Amino acid sequence: MRIGVLTGGGDCPGLNPVIRAVVRVSEKLGHEVIGFQHGWKGVMENITMPLTRDDVSGILHVGGTILGTSRTNPYKVEGGEQTALETFEKAGIDALIPIGGEDTLGVAAKLHKAGVKLVGVPKTIDNDLMGTDFTFGFDTAVNVAMESIDRLHTTANSHSRVLVVEVMGRHAGWIAWYSGVAGGGDVILVPEHPFSVEDVCDRIKRRHDNGKNFSIVVVSEGAKVATEAATDEDGSYVLSSMKKDAFGHVMLGGVAKVLSEEIEDRLGFETRHTVLGHIQRGGSPTAFDRVLGTRYGVRAAELVHEGRFGRMVALQGNKIVDIDINDISGAIKELDPDLYKVAEYFAD
Ligand code: F6P
Repeated sequence: MRIGVLTGGGDCPGLNPVIRAVVRVSEKLGHEVIGFQHGWKGVMENITMPLTRDDVSGILHVGGTILGTSRTNPYKVEGGEQTALETFEKAGIDALIPIGGEDTLGVAAKLHKAGVKLVGVPKTIDNDLMGTDFTFGFDTAVNVAMESIDRLHTTANSHSRVLVVEVMGRHAGWIAWYSGVAGGGDVILVPEHPFSVEDVCDRIKRRHDNGKNFSIVVVSEGAKVATEAATDEDGSYVLSSMKKDAFGHVMLGGVAKVLSEEIEDRLGFETRHTVLGHIQRGGSPTAFDRVLGTRYGVRAAELVHEGRFGRMVALQGNKIVDIDINDISGAIKELDPDLYKVAEYFAD
């Protein structure tokens, strides 16, 4: 078989280990692999590159994706589905392995219905994809955020300041919760639990009344305000931008700035904010993400070889399983309420 691979949506550490594993296993099983560059854009424009064992040599530890990525949505392009089918025909593709999050795999599910043989690989640093316990990239992001929180502790302490650190997490607070708990954040704010600025200030005040001279607030970029005015038109997000991407997602960022100004105004404590942004998505994957990416790539290549299409590989417990690719769309895997409770014990 001639197998196409692509990476779509936001990049994250662990994509290259998946690509490498797909190529190494597929070649062993007697297949040829090519890459579509820049996600679905490469399919729309038939931009390909060879993917042989030599092409994927030395990429296991490298962040990002050697294929490039984009947020192009073929279903937002006039005749996009037909163009995709024609590209696969022209490029002689027998099967496809799209690696991506809900958007990329949502496109994949539609293309599968249109007759494309494919197996999806789940990816998002946000870890909010249904059907899988963990996505690769998440562990790396958490470690980057945790190290940043460690560093913020020392400067917050020296200056007796409140520091508000904004981490990624559009719809779910996995990164904020894991990095906040691992880094000893004093207040952790996640999209699943809308917060009030008053409550955040009360908690910080109690901590300072108890003798502490600094506090660290960890906030997901998608954290919602329950009772305050600083929200967008839908009353749902604290924002600095209302621009949307091709999948209709509002580009977030801004909650830490708004919150830090409110804390300083209301409590009179000197407060600073830091937005970690794409630093969380860059750089070398952790061992966990390299292993998870490799296991996903191996299983995806095996499923293609077995002719089991319309599936997505997933991690459940410590086992790699495969589920119907249609099962992931339309719902977000929210932070487990039991986990949230753990952080609440450390809230002041
Ligand atoms: O979905 C993954 C993610 O990293 C989100 O956490 C974040 O909101 C978004 O992508 C950023 O997207 P972009 O790279 O397009 O700015």
